[in-house]
Amino acid sequence: SLTLINPPATTVKSYACQRRTPLKHHNTFLTDALEILAENAEFNENEGRSVAFRRSASVLKALPHVVRGMDDLKNLPCLGEHSVRVIKEILEDGTSSEVESTRQSEQYQAMKALTGVFGVGVKSADRWFREGLRRPLDLIHTGQKLNLAQQAGVQYYNDLNRPVTKREAVAISHIVEKAVNAVLSGAIITLMGGFRRGKEVGHDVDFLITHLEEGAEEGLMPKVLNWLEEQGLLLYQKTTRNSYLESKDGPARPPHNLDRFERCFSIFKLEKGKEGSGTSLNTSYDSGPSWRAVRVDLVVSPFSQFAFATLGWTGSKLFERELRRWAGQEKGMSLSSHALYDSKQQRYLRANSEEEIFAHLGLEYIPPSERNA
Ligand code: CTP
Ligand code: MN
Ligand code: MN
Ligand code: MN
Repeated sequence: SLTLINPPATTVKSYACQRRTPLKHHNTFLTDALEILAENAEFNENEGRSVAFRRSASVLKALPHVVRGMDDLKNLPCLGEHSVRVIKEILEDGTSSEVESTRQSEQYQAMKALTGVFGVGVKSADRWFREGLRRPLDLIHTGQKLNLAQQAGVQYYNDLNRPVTKREAVAISHIVEKAVNAVLSGAIITLMGGFRRGKEVGHDVDFLITHLEEGAEEGLMPKVLNWLEEQGLLLYQKTTRNSYLESKDGPARPPHNLDRFERCFSIFKLEKGKEGSGTSLNTSYDSGPSWRAVRVDLVVSPFSQFAFATLGWTGSKLFERELRRWAGQEKGMSLSSHALYDSKQQRYLRANSEEEIFAHLGLEYIPPSERNA
């Protein structure tokens, strides 16, 4: 006789770039917990462990329903033994003891606060933590030697830790457009990162700038920055010039996930009440300073690499990581924010749009709003 087996309620593909991950999902109570453990693993420089927790969380973000019991986890990929243990505890007890003790731990809290300073990475934060520092102000009180980024990070700490709203992002877009148009006509400016994925707030605002005429974009960044500087709109900036052409190891294999575009990590001075509301009512109760600091990332790409740059700067970070892993492990290809190299054919695959890149990779196209892995 026939044995009828119920098909799994949901099938979830194992690479995040094969799945649709909306911004809002049903399992925040689990993914927040797993992401605390991922973050803590990062603070301990355990990348493998961190990625494992992030992949587990990401799978749960793609589910079309709330996870209510362990049965709901059947047939799901990427859920390691440790993640499953944490999920089980939360489903049974409402909380996970490991997550709660991590959250409460002095190390986690100090690392979170110290790495929350712009310009401070895990290595510096960890060194300071071992020296007994716990809070950003301790950096000042103990007279630590800070680089320019970190000095700006401490100076604008409160502003930079306040989420940037969509409205503020739009106001910054107008400023960037004005600056770019003032120094080069016909440039194309696109909002990238979280806001392109539909987020309502972000930790910064990301822009990609290109020009239809290949080469016209060269030397653009210093001119844009000069213009912004002259207008008094820049509080901090650090530019890295384009190193793509000079690289010896080939364009498709940049170090880690970093690309080599001309880029600028900056802090803008944004006047309040200029967020494009159309009214000035929003300033009437505000007694603080008339401006706020906002982190802004600017990247300039030649038009021939624009599709790759767009895909690479839209994120999420896990989605990007998974795209590169898919390309390498499943397709024998190497993907960067500059190019896609096919090792079997030993040639670069051209693309004029993100859709073409997904097609080269043998993936169904996933729009930005569903790349919130
Ligand atoms: N990125 C990158 N190289 C960097 C920094 C960022 O390629 N040195 C890319 C990331 O891979 C990501 C995008 O830029 O795809 C945006 O990164 P980021 O601004 O850090 O994150 P968002 O997704 O925009 O989220 P948030 O709202 O926190 O800014
Ligand atoms: Mn484990
Ligand atoms: Mn961003
Ligand atoms: Mn950014």
